[in-house]
Amino acid sequence: MLYRVKQFFRGIFASGLSADEVDFVKANLTEAAQELFFQMNRADIRHTMNVLKTAQEIFDGSFREQDFPYLYKQDAGELRRLLVRCCLLHDVGRGRCMGPVRKALAVLLDMLFPVWSRRYGRCDSRSLVRGTLYRYYHHGELGGELLRGIGMNAEAAIISLHHKKGLGSMLPENRRILAILKKADSLN
Ligand SMILES: [Fe+2]
Ligand SMILES: [Fe+2]
Repeated sequence: MLYRVKQFFRGIFASGLSADEVDFVKANLTEAAQELFFQMNRADIRHTMNVLKTAQEIFDGSFREQDFPYLYKQDAGELRRLLVRCCLLHDVGRGRCMGPVRKALAVLLDMLFPVWSRRYGRCDSRSLVRGTLYRYYHHGELGGELLRGIGMNAEAAIISLHHKKGLGSMLPENRRILAILKKADSLN
């Protein structure tokens, strides 16, 4: 609970991106992906940058080429870039309206009435509560759909599973990326 309270205040007081961070995002994402990224609200963008930093640290501290002997050197570099893209885009499915207040509402409802919340939030709606719950529970799959729509299939497969149990059936290196994304997300 304390973690959630901290997360709420971090969201409320989230700082915008620095010029260097904007350049980094532009260097790592296509224009279509940038559009998805920059439509997120400030709290989600800051959260995303924090997740990215943690994920890069985990990757750099744990990636061993011998774990993936079939990868060429340049593929290992591409794997790190895939991780960067996945981190930057992992919450785009939340859309621009899911700010810290709506997120807190969803977290509270999920805590107090988990069964009702899941059932009520099973489909999209213009209702504030229902729409918020829907995005809260389904933003992974929604983000995956958006990314598939712009041809980012590997990222879509990973991101659509970032709140699911297990690691799905993907290439072992992509499963590693998903595991790192989940870990970094849970720490931020
Ligand atoms: Fe998420
Ligand atoms: Fe996240």
